[in-house]
Amino acid sequence: MTVEKLIVFDTTLRDGEQSPGASMTREEKIRIARQLEKMRVDVIEAGFPAASNGDFESVRAVAEVIKDSRIAALCRTSDKDIERALEALKPAKAGRIHTFIATSALHMEKKLRMSPEEVMVAARNAVRFARNGIDDVEFSCEDAGRSDLDFLCRIVEAVIKEGATVINIPDTVGYNLPEQFAERIYKLRERVPNSDKVTWSVHCHNDLGLAVANTLAAVMAGARQVECTINGLGERAGNAALEEIVMAVRTRQDFFKCDTRIDTTQIVPASKMVSGVTGFPVQPNKAIVGANAFAHESGIHQDGVLKHRETYEIMRAEDVGWNANKLVLGKHSGRTAFRARLKELGIGVDSEQVLNTAFARFKDLADKKHDIFDEDLHALMSDEVITPDDEYYKLVSSAFRSETGEKPHARIVLSAGNTEHSTESNGSGPVDAAFKAIESVTKSGADLLLYSVNAITTGTDAQGEVTVRLSKAGRIVNGQGADTDIIVASARAYINALNKLQSSIERVNPQV
Ligand code: KIV
Ligand code: ZN
Repeated sequence: MTVEKLIVFDTTLRDGEQSPGASMTREEKIRIARQLEKMRVDVIEAGFPAASNGDFESVRAVAEVIKDSRIAALCRTSDKDIERALEALKPAKAGRIHTFIATSALHMEKKLRMSPEEVMVAARNAVRFARNGIDDVEFSCEDAGRSDLDFLCRIVEAVIKEGATVINIPDTVGYNLPEQFAERIYKLRERVPNSDKVTWSVHCHNDLGLAVANTLAAVMAGARQVECTINGLGERAGNAALEEIVMAVRTRQDFFKCDTRIDTTQIVPASKMVSGVTGFPVQPNKAIVGANAFAHESGIHQDGVLKHRETYEIMRAEDVGWNANKLVLGKHSGRTAFRARLKELGIGVDSEQVLNTAFARFKDLADKKHDIFDEDLHALMSDEVITPDDEYYKLVSSAFRSETGEKPHARIVLSAGNTEHSTESNGSGPVDAAFKAIESVTKSGADLLLYSVNAITTGTDAQGEVTVRLSKAGRIVNGQGADTDIIVASARAYINALNKLQSSIERVNPQV
């Protein structure tokens, strides 16, 4: 039996980024894109270039560095959006325009205020216009899961005639049930006369917890591209999780007629990276990438696994990248080894100045911590190291006091632009004191939405990685900081979030 190819289209950098608070910097996007490429993702949707200059630059930067995955850029149906996306994709070795418009009666009438015929014209014009600039054009019928099937058939047939190469059927609001969604895909493929000219794709949201089930049902009905995100990140309840789809198809080859080309050993590192960058923790019992996904607590299970692993395990932890916690460098490692390991991890170091700062940080860490792991290096290469010039606020030094019977106290020296400020404050704990001290200088007035601490690796000498989510005037940003001292990590995370608020990037959500 021949195994057909199932194309993996990852949209962590676009739909994933639409989760409130998950917005990423250009450097973070490049880092994740490199990991996706290493994992052998077929298509990386890098962003929505018309959203903002920052988004445009990110898509362009990803298109410049990625060579083994196709880069997709999202755009609405306007010529302006498409031109912007084409421009951003110029450096790509292989690019794709992904244009979309809503096709459900509800969206057309209430959101777009367009008639079905107007939507039809916009869709055809967009695909024709895009095909003049690039030979790979994906068309998505937004809210296809609730669209009239006859209208869907008509619009899909029309855009295929205009040259669309991929037709994507999104269940935008996660409303469908697996059988129903599979039938929709099956009927579309059957009824659209030129359906064999394109690749059929699905894009499922998880509002009812069915995104992966719906995606797999659609694959059974003939879809050959799956749109998904790492850890299921995405709007509202998120998208279908890449790791779950890929492992379901790989594990159940007795059932599926297709397979992906994904290197599954890169799944856990990708999950950790996305969680670290966005500050969205992975729940412990999450399939494949949760900390407990391969842990056996009950005595009967442990006994079974020790006697014969397959009694309770349908996949091997090492096949999805657990135990990738490799000891990489130590106190005596030199600059060359350090640089080479960063390169292997997909972290580009563009200038000698950045390398020097990063190497100094590494030596500092190696003094405090005996074993340095890949995860430590990722955390080390934070924004303030990679893009020091973008950082308006910088932590110069800090001292904290926390003693029984005494009020916790923080003393912080912070630079704002070229001016250094020394400040101190008490708080209900040392973290509270640190944030209050920083706030007394920056006066951001931002609301703290989330504060979380995670140990990056095992052991009490592990670095703590802190995520701080701040909100101000409708904007939500995440800041990260890592250090073996979690109060210092907290101060860094808070300052990192303030720097992101400081750079006032105006963004447009494509679907609003
Ligand atoms: O959910 C959705 O419909 C989308 C489209 C833009 C593909 O994200
Ligand atoms: Zn979506």
